Amino acid sequence: MKQIEKLIKHAQQAAKFAYAPYSKFKVGAAILTHKGKIYTGANIENASYGLTVCAERVALYKAVSQGEKKFNTIAIYTNTKDFTMPCGACRQVLAEFNLHMYIVLINRKGAIKQFSLSALLPYSFNKNSLK
Ligand code: THU
Repeated sequence: MKQIEKLIKHAQQAAKFAYAPYSKFKVGAAILTHKGKIYTGANIENASYGLTVCAERVALYKAVSQGEKKFNTIAIYTNTKDFTMPCGACRQVLAEFNLHMYIVLINRKGAIKQFSLSALLPYSFNKNSLK
């Protein structure tokens, strides 16, 4: 199976583990490292709402906390007609590691849309800005 297909399958599976009792909006993410390893994440909500963490950040933080720093692609799946775009906070957090990573979106039908993160977060503030 092609790596991207595998990544998509992982994102779809990950959505099942979403903890979303408030929004009922389940998101699954799977991030691919440069070495081909996959880490998954799902959104985790909280009764205090604002402490909710998106699926994308859960996947990224799992990977980073396991020693990963180089990422290629992140797949994001929701069981909806529309594609789910990553929120601004997630774009910024992903850009910390690779402004040029691919963002692959998957909808309910399994249709795919692809972007470069740099197109979704133009003129970003990032670690180069601190030089
Ligand atoms: N959410 C994600 O996990 N990722 C996104 O890209 C968009 C939003 C979650 C946060 C919250 O649990 C629910 O979706 C509704 O906003």
